[in-house]
Amino acid sequence: MKAQREKEQTEVAVVEESFPVRETAPLDGADDLMEPTDDSWVVKLEQSVNIFLTETVVTILGSLYRDRNYARFFVLETIARVPYFAFISMLHLYETFGWSRRADYIKVHFAESMNEFHHLLIMEELGGNSLLFDRFLARFMAFFYYFMTVGMYMLSPRMAYHFSECVERHAYSTYDKFLKLNEAELKELPAPQAAINYYLNEDLYLFDEFQTARAPCSRRPKIDNLYDVFINIRDDEAEHCKTMKSCQTHGNLRSPHSIKNGLRSDTE
Ligand SMILES: [Fe+2]
Ligand SMILES: [Fe+2]
Repeated sequence: MKAQREKEQTEVAVVEESFPVRETAPLDGADDLMEPTDDSWVVKLEQSVNIFLTETVVTILGSLYRDRNYARFFVLETIARVPYFAFISMLHLYETFGWSRRADYIKVHFAESMNEFHHLLIMEELGGNSLLFDRFLARFMAFFYYFMTVGMYMLSPRMAYHFSECVERHAYSTYDKFLKLNEAELKELPAPQAAINYYLNEDLYLFDEFQTARAPCSRRPKIDNLYDVFINIRDDEAEHCKTMKSCQTHGNLRSPHSIKNGLRSDTE
């Protein structure tokens, strides 16, 4: 367990080194998002369970998809949207019951879900979904992942957000390794149309919305080839990681656009 925790801390450091945040305008209420916020035994227990679960799934997927990279990415991106859908459904439910109103959370999670949806479109265009087995496995996992996330969120939103952070960190390191091993080949291949449509779109409001550690418009991708596409997908995963970290502190999350416009719509 100690080795797993050290591995997790190392990957956090890599994400931070690769993506210095808030280098433009600082955002309110976002201190160092990669610092632990609580050292209580409950938090440690939650995080240990999450790390164990993540490592187990990563090991199983690693043995199933050794060199079938696009199929592995298709599975990862299919399940990547699920926690955001689960968070939104729980936030809607709590709002319906009158227990809380968290418009910023719903908005940011929707933007995160749309970002992962475009990653999925890219993997489908690259042929990651060509086998029935991969489509079945991805959807089977997504079904159970949804109910697991809902249950975890009811028990502890902090734990559910931490689990999602673990998954996003794994996605970051998976794409980072892939880029390092295949740089020359990827630079010779064209970017999928789905990536061009998404990253070079004139309307990048939702693209800015999920990156809560950055000011809006502070990141604009360059897409010349497939290498650039995977660089940006990897960078997106790092931004998800930071947003999930931020969510683990109660009431911490703000929409980057709400901050910019001085709005506040969330109530307890
Ligand atoms: Fe993704
Ligand atoms: Fe992700």
